[in-house]
Amino acid sequence: MTKLTWYGHATLGLQFDGHQLLIDPFFTGNPAASTTAEQVSPDFILVSHGHGDHVGDAIAIARRTGALVISNHEIVTWLGKQGLENAHGQHLGGGHRHPFGYLKLTLALHGSMLPDGSCGGNPCGFLLTTSDGKKIYMAQDTGLFGDMRLIGEEGLDVAVIPIGDNYTMGPDDALRAVKMLQPKSVIPIHYNTFDLLNQDAQAWKQRVEAETDTRVVVLKPGGNFEF
Ligand code: NI
Ligand code: MN
Repeated sequence: MTKLTWYGHATLGLQFDGHQLLIDPFFTGNPAASTTAEQVSPDFILVSHGHGDHVGDAIAIARRTGALVISNHEIVTWLGKQGLENAHGQHLGGGHRHPFGYLKLTLALHGSMLPDGSCGGNPCGFLLTTSDGKKIYMAQDTGLFGDMRLIGEEGLDVAVIPIGDNYTMGPDDALRAVKMLQPKSVIPIHYNTFDLLNQDAQAWKQRVEAETDTRVVVLKPGGNFEF
């Protein structure tokens, strides 16, 4: 059993097979956060790109828990300059076998400048094959791109995609994304954090379920999905 928690915005937790992963940990300053940075105890932290709402509390949580931070090479180098050495760099298209499974960094159409203006390399999404055999795609921040079809060919149990519009895909493009990804279930994220990102997730669910075979799981911040 894999338990996915949406903490609000693009912050996700994954628990399976004795592992605890935290993705894009943005608690401090996140009006939608369902908990605080002090309340989470991951073994691994994944950071998709350099923006403040994704790097978030990664350094503080990693220092407190000793979690290994996984991101692209440029962000891992930047973390090293902040004194955080326990980090693993990968890059787009590259996969690595971690204790929790095989993690590949995927394309994302977005930016990646770090909070201090440093270059954060290219943004990414995550394609995870868990140690107990589930396939999860976490798109994180991205616009629509046609190569989502290739990611869908992997056979996804769950896709996590943004619907907030303005900075990422909005509902229309997210529906097109579901058609390419063809996951068993999809979870919308990166919406309703601020007024600018307000979306009607239930309306989107109805559209997606009318036009595809994918089940839409709409979570409230702090809510879980088990699969
Ligand atoms: Ni971003
Ligand atoms: Mn973002």
